[in-house]
Amino acid sequence: MRKVNKAIIPAAGLGTRFLPITKALPKPMLPVLDKPTIQYIVEELESAGIKDIIVVVSPGQEIIGKHFSEAAVLEKRLLSEGKTELYKKATATNGFNVKFAVQKEANGLAGAILSAESLVGDEPFALLLGDELLCAKDGKDSCIKTLKDIYEKTGKSVIATMEVFGSDVEKYGNVGIGKEENDVITVNAIVEKPHISEALSNNAVIGRYVLDGKIFSMLKKLKPRNNEIYLTDALNELAVSGELLASTVKDDRYDVGDKFGYIKANVEIALKSKEIGEDVKQYIIETAERLKK
Ligand code: UTP
Repeated sequence: MRKVNKAIIPAAGLGTRFLPITKALPKPMLPVLDKPTIQYIVEELESAGIKDIIVVVSPGQEIIGKHFSEAAVLEKRLLSEGKTELYKKATATNGFNVKFAVQKEANGLAGAILSAESLVGDEPFALLLGDELLCAKDGKDSCIKTLKDIYEKTGKSVIATMEVFGSDVEKYGNVGIGKEENDVITVNAIVEKPHISEALSNNAVIGRYVLDGKIFSMLKKLKPRNNEIYLTDALNELAVSGELLASTVKDDRYDVGDKFGYIKANVEIALKSKEIGEDVKQYIIETAERLKK
């Protein structure tokens, strides 16, 4: 079976839910505590041993590239002052092999994937949405590592799903469940954000995938709907022909492209911080008491 060595991180959306900050700052650079969102995603890839990373950016997002390059003056200064911990932080992202593909127009996720085609070739690749954070439970594999292992065992494209309930099913792609074996589901259909009465299951598609390279030619053959081509349509084709698997994720997931999800991610990650975790906890307890009054 082919190995998964490459990853695409689409980060070229307009980020309209976060205006005005996203006018000048790409959404993946929004910090969760002290790291930009995209750094957490790259670290998830590192945990899966995937080293070749392609970030899809819109024109003018050079600042993302800067985060993955040397900052010579800063590094020299930190070293000369003996600030080794800070030096480690400043250089932690220098070693990744990050390349950039430009999506000229924000015409959707499928368009972002196609922008990276020449850098991926016909290889299988991991796809991680640039605005979703997944935190594996202690001792468990990261989500993308689990998907990578399933692909490398079966040769079939695989998506991450999570259980959602009530009207939340209408917010996500929804999966029809076939055979289920060792926590791996054979998907028999996918529908985009269905009305609750038409949902196929409680399994929602989240932003982690490992896709076979043939997805590129499938995307190119698709007919646009509302002037856009949809990854869901290509995934549904795979599902109908029995070539799509899903793994249900139990990780903590934060949609940091959404304001409430962003605040939750910051609070949870701040609570885990050695530096300020205890202060944040006290602050939350005091605030909760005040709000009860
Ligand atoms: P979203 O639809 O959540 O992000 O896309 P958005 O369009 O940037 O945000 P809003 O809705 O306007 O606030 C999910 C991911 O896919 C990327 C986004 O950057 C995000 O990481 N994306 C989306 C692209 O790379 N290109 C696109 O054309 C659309």
